[in-house]
Amino acid sequence: MCGIIGVLGDHEAAPILVDALKRLEYRGYDSAGIATVRNGQLDRRRAVGKLVNLSDLLVHQPLSGKAGIGHTRWATHGAPTEGNAHPHQAGRVAVVHNGIIENYQDLREELASHGITPQTDTDTETVALLAEHYLDQGNSPRDAAQLTLSRLDGAYALCFLFEGEEDLLIAARKGSPLAIGHGDGEMFVGSDAIALSPMTDRITYLEEGDMAVVTRTSLEIRNAENRVANRPVKTIRIDAARIDKGGHRHFMAKEIAEQPTVLADAISRYLPAGADDIVLPEAIDFTAIDRLTMVACGTAFYACNVAKYWFEQLARLPVEIDVASEFRYREPPVPKGTAALFVSQSGETADTLAALRYCAGKADRILSVVNVPESSISRESDLALPIHAGVEIGVASTKAFTCQLLVLALLALEAARQRGEITAGELQDRLEDVRALPGLLNQALTIGDPVERLSRDLAEARDILFLGRGAMYPLALEGALKLKEISYIHAEGYASGELKHGPIALVDDHVPVIVMAPRDALFEKTISNMQEVMARGGRILLVSDAKGIKSAGDGVWRTIQMPDVSAFLAPILYAIPAQLLAYHTAVAKGTDVDQPRNLAKSVTVE
Ligand code: AGP
Repeated sequence: MCGIIGVLGDHEAAPILVDALKRLEYRGYDSAGIATVRNGQLDRRRAVGKLVNLSDLLVHQPLSGKAGIGHTRWATHGAPTEGNAHPHQAGRVAVVHNGIIENYQDLREELASHGITPQTDTDTETVALLAEHYLDQGNSPRDAAQLTLSRLDGAYALCFLFEGEEDLLIAARKGSPLAIGHGDGEMFVGSDAIALSPMTDRITYLEEGDMAVVTRTSLEIRNAENRVANRPVKTIRIDAARIDKGGHRHFMAKEIAEQPTVLADAISRYLPAGADDIVLPEAIDFTAIDRLTMVACGTAFYACNVAKYWFEQLARLPVEIDVASEFRYREPPVPKGTAALFVSQSGETADTLAALRYCAGKADRILSVVNVPESSISRESDLALPIHAGVEIGVASTKAFTCQLLVLALLALEAARQRGEITAGELQDRLEDVRALPGLLNQALTIGDPVERLSRDLAEARDILFLGRGAMYPLALEGALKLKEISYIHAEGYASGELKHGPIALVDDHVPVIVMAPRDALFEKTISNMQEVMARGGRILLVSDAKGIKSAGDGVWRTIQMPDVSAFLAPILYAIPAQLLAYHTAVAKGTDVDQPRNLAKSVTVE
């Protein structure tokens, strides 16, 4: 989603702004722009497409000034054109925005009654027009911004820059995250700590309803009640090396490859060396919980799907799962004894956050499994369980998925222990399995070369089906999601047993069917479903272990051989072929793997 940067520096702002926008690229965008103020004058440059277009424009039409704002836009209202790109300017005000102003049509009508006409299709321009209107009425920039904010419905992170004001930025947050960076005699505003990381590691996170008046030497934050609010300055260490491709062609390739290391680190946090027990940041009493409601979006939702099998089978704890965008408007009852658990890599997904807020005050406990520790979901939970995946840049989530699964698997085991559903011996066996995971992931990654070869064939397909049973069914869904989001090939995941209830009509020799089937208790059933596909000329790509591949017999189009793994942890290991198939197919098709079209990394609008 849109990325915001603001700079009050003692060097030229334009290169700093463009550099920071590069670090925000991972969020997804389709146009970009910057504005500066110099000798009192506002000026801006904007370009459609990748940042290189904006950089080229700046070579021919440089922009000077030490105070500025910048933006990467992910279009919501209005096509991705230069005219609709941010910063939006109205007279003496320039503004950048992440979010959606829901009442912008009403505001436009009101402005029209004063003879003020918008020049763009965007909701954001209304903010600039409104602020300029308040300036016209004799208000100071600060009062104009405050009056403007009081009129806005919807979600926003905003940063204002004013003509004649070279030492002033006004930032505001409601629904979309925004951070203030403290430098030495410089100040910054950014969508996240990554954007600000080379300039400063001292960050103040704005809270809901906050407005910040920023100068080079001061920061005043007012809360939604217009009272001065003291927000802490935190030192956030973002290891620059972790925002580097590390010699890989894409961030996604790096993030797939680093899973053994990242998982080993996450395991060591929850299962410290020598400890026999799972260590949580804070205790959870699973004996006091009658049911678990798990809510998330996209890949994080598929992690919830897998976890449902774990919690129900291992801990006999009933689990309800839902996608956040449905859950929040379904307004389900949340009976006493419910713990609500939200899973999110970014911790900022608008629907997941809204679902959490719906459950606050209703559920006995609000838990979350989150990657970004300072995120809204993390901060608004009673207990946030970090997944320790490190910064994930690829829009297609990979290491965050396996780390989410790891934390959820350990939670399910802890629930099983507390509820007396697992013996001490069984628990230790499972924990040994967990400790062995990084080694297995390393072995699984050796399938990269054969997967690359067969992905060249997959790249020719128009449609691809993924099948799985039990806890491998969500892996089929995840495999299909990964493939479609980065290769743009239409793919669907189905529960193997559902195939003959409709989707089998799609099967012919043009539709590869990828079957995720470790040799587990349900293997024979899946193989029967596979035979049904082959009997209709379907081409099967079987992902299984050596025994599974052997017993599947002849007639299978291609195979990917995986290491043996316990049925319990198979969903974590089989994420690797799902990710590699998508990755190599996308590379074969030549798509933009890390920033696929139309997608955003952090979906901060509903
Ligand atoms: C994953 O590959 C996707 N890009 C997407 O489905 C993502 O998982 C979803 O938007 C949820 O994001 P979150 O984990 O940051 O909440």
